[in-house]
Amino acid sequence: MTDIVVIVAIAQNQAIGKNNDIPWHIKEDFQHFKEKTMGHPCIMGDKTYDSLPDFARPLPGRENIVCTLDPNYKAEGATLFNDFFKAIDYVKAKGVDQAFIIGGATIYKLGMKIADAFELTRIYHDYDADTFYPEINLNEWQEINKEDHEGMDIKNKIKVKFSFITYRRIR
Ligand SMILES: NC(=O)c1ccc[n+]([C@@H]2O[C@H](COP(=O)([O-])OP(=O)(O)OC[C@H]3O[C@@H](n4cnc5c(N)ncnc54)[C@H](OP(=O)(O)O)[C@@H]3O)[C@@H](O)[C@H]2O)c1
Repeated sequence: MTDIVVIVAIAQNQAIGKNNDIPWHIKEDFQHFKEKTMGHPCIMGDKTYDSLPDFARPLPGRENIVCTLDPNYKAEGATLFNDFFKAIDYVKAKGVDQAFIIGGATIYKLGMKIADAFELTRIYHDYDADTFYPEINLNEWQEINKEDHEGMDIKNKIKVKFSFITYRRIR
């Protein structure tokens, strides 16, 4: 059985993106993302794929699965799907242990309906943004782990508190 995991960093005001970029840069969170996702397929929207920095596009060591409705879209080194749910069927048919849904907002909205687990980095700061996370129904999720941290957001030159929180879907 493939565990489908949503992984995301969300600010206090539900912000996740601005100008097709992440509004903060917290090294510990990028490291956390890398450790969790390394070796596993990562499913994302075409905007998120385009937003990856050159050195990390495609994300190394992970199958990059990109969802797009554009038949002319090109993403070198990635597997393309024109239907998010076909991408989910594809990773399940491969029989991998885990696959990650890595954004952005459009793809998270679909992913939250079917994911088995949810890896949330909650950043206790409000950020200016144009992309926000869809509403989270906490009645559907059981918190199974929480680690509190503090670190530098080097993009905004501020110290921030954040938590890595793992949820599993209540069945
Ligand atoms: N904070 C975080 O952890 C985090 C993580 C990831 C991304 N982000 C941020 O999120 C923002 C991007 O989010 P976004 O919502 O604009 O874009 P996105 O989710 O990355 O991509 C959306 C695109 O996916 C395609 N799509 C939508 N529904 C689909 C479906 N059912 N099947 C196949 N393809 C489908 C469409 O492509 P076309 O219309 O082009 O065909 C759509 O425009 C950026 O600012 C990024 O930095 C933040």
